[in-house]
Amino acid sequence: MIKYVIHGGKPLYGEIDISGAKNAAVAIIPAALMVDGPCRIENIPQISDVTMLLNILKEMGASVRTINRSTMEIDCSGIRKAEATFDMMRKIRASYYLIGAMLGRFRSAVVAMPGGCNFGGVRPIDQHIKGFEAMGAKVTLLQGGLINCATPNGLHGASIYLDVVSVGATINVMLAAALADGQTVIENAAREPHIVDLANFLNSMGADIRGAGTNVIKVRGVTQLHGGTYSIIPDQIEAGTYMAAVAGTGGDVLIRNVIPKHMDCISGKLREMGVTIIENGDSIRVIRSGPIRRTNFKTLPYPGFPTDMQPQVSTVLCLAQGTSMVTEGVWDNRYKYVDELAKMGARIKVDGRVAVIEGVEGLTGAPIRAMDLRAGAALVIAGLCASGVTEIDGVNYIERGYESIIEKLQGVGADIQAVSFPDEEAASPREVG
Ligand code: EPZ
Repeated sequence: MIKYVIHGGKPLYGEIDISGAKNAAVAIIPAALMVDGPCRIENIPQISDVTMLLNILKEMGASVRTINRSTMEIDCSGIRKAEATFDMMRKIRASYYLIGAMLGRFRSAVVAMPGGCNFGGVRPIDQHIKGFEAMGAKVTLLQGGLINCATPNGLHGASIYLDVVSVGATINVMLAAALADGQTVIENAAREPHIVDLANFLNSMGADIRGAGTNVIKVRGVTQLHGGTYSIIPDQIEAGTYMAAVAGTGGDVLIRNVIPKHMDCISGKLREMGVTIIENGDSIRVIRSGPIRRTNFKTLPYPGFPTDMQPQVSTVLCLAQGTSMVTEGVWDNRYKYVDELAKMGARIKVDGRVAVIEGVEGLTGAPIRAMDLRAGAALVIAGLCASGVTEIDGVNYIERGYESIIEKLQGVGADIQAVSFPDEEAASPREVG
């Protein structure tokens, strides 16, 4: 088992390069299934969620060629069957994008129900199913948690109003609609940068999608998508995580390869907390030398403050002067890391979706466990800020979404190592993302 061992309390100085966006990559890789011919995809992050998705495609018959560290050529022309390897699908949430992609290409899909759940209760996919059904799919749940989608009367465009703003449902419906007959209109669509990135990818392969980035997306189905080259956008949440790390530890770090516009919702909040943020082209310089100021925030769909940054910024607020209030507006239970922070001296009270954070003078290193991806990133930040030694296990979660996190943090002066320990305490892998 690998643990991260952090000797904290050091400010961070230097430069960090941001990788391609995980949540764009995990949509674009399944989308390659719909393309006739090779897709060369650049700026793919090297993270385990990507490896798992590529393995699923390979098992289905795709050819995947590594061009260089972050570029792959994926050719799914050889795939003949709309059926994915069920065990692998259950390990990664984003594998459900294969449903939309298979429906588009094959007009049918047999997949495993995306497994696990980290944010309290079941993570529903009713809005995905509602969209597919409006387009003519018959969706049935088979024994063993399999989902069967058939289109006895074809797959046609439809007008779909999402009851909740769902990233996953917007993406899945957009995928199926790209190759459906006629026009699909998705209303109350999610507007996250990775939705725009997926639309740009599909359009560059011959799709006709308009309005991505607004809450009404219009997709005119085409008969075929052709191969091409596409570069994934930088990861907004990875960049935000390193910005929060500097806010917590203090220091001065240049974060390179970002789209500053995507960072506005995070930068604005960090500025309120006393952090200086200077945008320059595709870089952001983050400086924190004075005290951390208290604030309140609520997570919301984009362009609101992202739920995927809630644990990291809440962790920094543990060290603010005064009391802050955080409201989780997207997930029912995204505060599992709070008990771990309490072991380090944080004072947080959670009541339902609200956390009240009373700032303390400092955190103290402790053995703690990551429960999901962003909670894991938050614990890394806590360890970097704390005095003494912090040992984090469950780091497999963190490696699902952060490329080379150890090396990137070491590069700005953090004392963090990945260390092997005997296996008996290993956390069992569950689903995230
Ligand atoms: C995506 O998850 C992201 N994952 C999550 O990031 C992120 O937290 C989330 O969007 C919100 O931004 C990927 O992109 C792979 P949703 P997704 O559908 O698509 C409810 C990370 O850390 N809902 O937008 O699963 C749902 O319960 C991960 O990188 C329904 O009710 O999220 C939630 O309350 C974790 N019915 C809200 O909508 C549905 O059919 C938003 O969920 C679908 C969702």
